[in-house]
Amino acid sequence: MKPLNLKKDFPVFNEGPLVYLDTAASSLTPTRVIEAMDTYYKTMPVNVHRGVYQMSYNATRKYEDARENIANFINADFEEIVFTRGASSALNMIARIYEPFIDETDEIIVSEIEHHSHLLPWQQVARRTGAKLVYVPLTKAGRITVDNFKKVLNENTKIVALTAVSNVLGYKTPLEEIIDLTHQSGAIISIDAAQGVPHEVVDVKKLDCDFLAFSGHKMLGPTGVGVLYGKKALLDTLEPLEYGGDMVDYAYKENATWKDAPYKFETGTPPIAEVIGLSEAINYLRSIGMDRVKAHESMLQTYALEALDKLEGVTIYNPTSETGIIAFNIDDVHPHDAVTFFDEDHIALRAGHHCAQLVMAFLNVPATLRASFYIYNTKDDVDAFVKSLKEARNFFTSVGF
Ligand SMILES: Cc1ncc(COP(=O)(O)O)c(C=O)c1O
Repeated sequence: MKPLNLKKDFPVFNEGPLVYLDTAASSLTPTRVIEAMDTYYKTMPVNVHRGVYQMSYNATRKYEDARENIANFINADFEEIVFTRGASSALNMIARIYEPFIDETDEIIVSEIEHHSHLLPWQQVARRTGAKLVYVPLTKAGRITVDNFKKVLNENTKIVALTAVSNVLGYKTPLEEIIDLTHQSGAIISIDAAQGVPHEVVDVKKLDCDFLAFSGHKMLGPTGVGVLYGKKALLDTLEPLEYGGDMVDYAYKENATWKDAPYKFETGTPPIAEVIGLSEAINYLRSIGMDRVKAHESMLQTYALEALDKLEGVTIYNPTSETGIIAFNIDDVHPHDAVTFFDEDHIALRAGHHCAQLVMAFLNVPATLRASFYIYNTKDDVDAFVKSLKEARNFFTSVGF
């Protein structure tokens, strides 16, 4: 397969030299996504579901066509797609709308590799309801396995909240078996797919998951839009989280009724341009093919790991990861010092706890560096990264950090 060469599609590369290895935080935006949003603002910059005039119909059509397109991308039904302002708000919404079904006799299974956005909402549910928060034991490497999951699943488990892919270690959770086991024991599952949907085919029907969340800005779309997928039968039984305009059906003096899902979960003016932009990002990803996206990342990751493996004085925390994320540190160098060195070479990397402090505790480090690859990266980017890494290591070693 020919490696992808797509930098020309991303205008930010015209701004000057840039090796962008921080997609796990946010991806870059291709011209066609910017243009799709621009077209909305230039030709129909009005609200949806309200105006009784042609321009508002056009905007509504665009917005709802985007919902259909996004639903198709993960093999969901139209009514199962709720727009939020990001993965975090989708994950919070799942926890809040499911909370009424949880009490002190219940257990909630989570893991130490969850992003804070999928851990803290369930922590708070546990605090408010008295339910017990139970952690899946991780393997030595930091993986969730089916065997370890079986150790914590029991008849008291009410909900399982796990990530599809760790945003620090890049490990994939064996979801299919875990979902099967969850259902066999009568529980339901919430999946944080913020690092999954952008990188490979995710089919919610095949997975049979109950809830799943992801965001636009990690998959070439804009910031400010996220997706909550929920099985229709489940969404129908749940109450809205926020009340107000657009989600209402009829309002009376003492009470009100709501529209059906997904609208009862979308209060007020939605992120219209952002939803249209995300749909265009999906068109672009489709034009490349998700299998090619995955193969390209995998090629870059293998290439990078081969080079890093030969380096002394560098610790790789996830050498067996199956996704395009490399978590590492230069021995005895604080990642924040290292990252400024990379920045001088125009290499954008992430340093910190990556909103996953339990992973840092697990690795017993205050922070790590993280390089993450996507479709616009090339082998030249990896070469530049490895060269800079060698120089950084030599520099800090020589000055005695
Ligand atoms: C695994 C994971 N979950 C959730 C989030 C939160 O996403 P957002 O910033 O879109 O709310 C992130 C973002 O870093 C993530 O990597």
